[in-house]
Amino acid sequence: MNFELSEEQQMIQQAAREFAQSAIVPIAAHHDETGEFPLETIRQMGELGLMGIEVPEAYGGAGLDTVGYALAMMEIAAADAAHSTIMSVNNSLFCNGILKFGSEEQKQRYVRAVASGEAIGAYALTEPQSGSDAANMRTRAVLSDDGSHYVINGKKSWITSGPVADYVVLFAITDPEAGSKGISAFIIETNKPGFIRGKTEPKMGIRASATCEIEFENYHCPVENRLGEEGIGFKMAMSVLDAGRIGIASQAVGIAQAAYEAARAYVRERQAFGQPIGSFQMIQQKIADMKTRLDAARLLTLRAAWKKMQCEREGGRFTAEASMAKLYASETAMFVAHQAVQIHGGMGYSRELPVERYFRDAKITEIYEGTSEIQRMVISRSETGLR
Ligand code: CAA
Repeated sequence: MNFELSEEQQMIQQAAREFAQSAIVPIAAHHDETGEFPLETIRQMGELGLMGIEVPEAYGGAGLDTVGYALAMMEIAAADAAHSTIMSVNNSLFCNGILKFGSEEQKQRYVRAVASGEAIGAYALTEPQSGSDAANMRTRAVLSDDGSHYVINGKKSWITSGPVADYVVLFAITDPEAGSKGISAFIIETNKPGFIRGKTEPKMGIRASATCEIEFENYHCPVENRLGEEGIGFKMAMSVLDAGRIGIASQAVGIAQAAYEAARAYVRERQAFGQPIGSFQMIQQKIADMKTRLDAARLLTLRAAWKKMQCEREGGRFTAEASMAKLYASETAMFVAHQAVQIHGGMGYSRELPVERYFRDAKITEIYEGTSEIQRMVISRSETGLR
């Protein structure tokens, strides 16, 4: 066992940290306040290779490994969770899915554009009536009589980057009698007729990451834009989410790290009853618990990233490892951010410091890409074999 990072992993970690601290930290509060999408910094992140970290250089990416991706996500999230949300969808849900299941032409056309930061990707699975029960979707894709295209109708909700996305990986029913085996995936170009952006969600946190409903009204999707075979869409969605959950776990570790560092600095400098508050045992307990949980979350996340790389070489699934990392890291982000607000007292509740933003941003990590309840279900099913 070796806990050392490789030279390449240290390089991407360092590059992401420098960019995050110099370019993102100064603008994070403004974008949180206004909800303005940070297009300029997202484009710069693309130029640095941060939008396609695991994408081979042949398709415009950085050609690094999953541990490198997790480390970079942690750094970006520590500066601003909203930037890391956009980054995670481009990397894990958009590029990763097409790389794994797409044709050479699809990779050249769509992965290259998103990995380089020229275009924004999205992932459309959730519908108003189907969140956790993802297979219960209604969006329908019907093959035309001449077999040249699918006609798509339906509504998707909570689509991260939906308001600005150029391309969307969409899941829709092609065979209504076949249950989860009747779902297929498509690559959607959003500038075509029949693609309609709906209301933007006013969110508690990650406010600069744009989220909206999207509607399809007789949208024509060429048959070449189906991703993989008909009927494998649900398994594809689930296996892509396995990778996505490592990204969200990394995001949660980044948020927790930022909240922890703010709290550690504050307990050294804030005086009460004639001494730094970090000398009080109740604060010492908080610091010890925050640090221990943060390190455990980081280790589970890097273990899941390592397991994904091992499965890619040798076969097998990393579903349970990804779910455990996402579950533990997201609950840790919530715990650490909550303690950080408490330690800061009134200042933790003030918008003048970023601690209250970490608290609001942390909450989403327990919800999207599978709630904590769903992660526990996945882990338990994997352990017992029982449904
Ligand atoms: N990898 C490969 N195949 C998988 C799989 C995985 N991780 N998980 C399930 N499958 C396969 C199963 O083996 C099964 O295939 P067979 O019938 O051939 O055995 C098939 O898929 C159906 O599986 P289940 O019967 O287990 O499916 P289910 O209906 O019981 O649902 C679930 C399982 C785990 C609850 C799933 O619905 C789920 O993960 N729900 C949460 C959805 C979610 O995470 N949504 C997030 C939306 S995206 C998002 O949030 C992005 C963002 O904004 C940033």
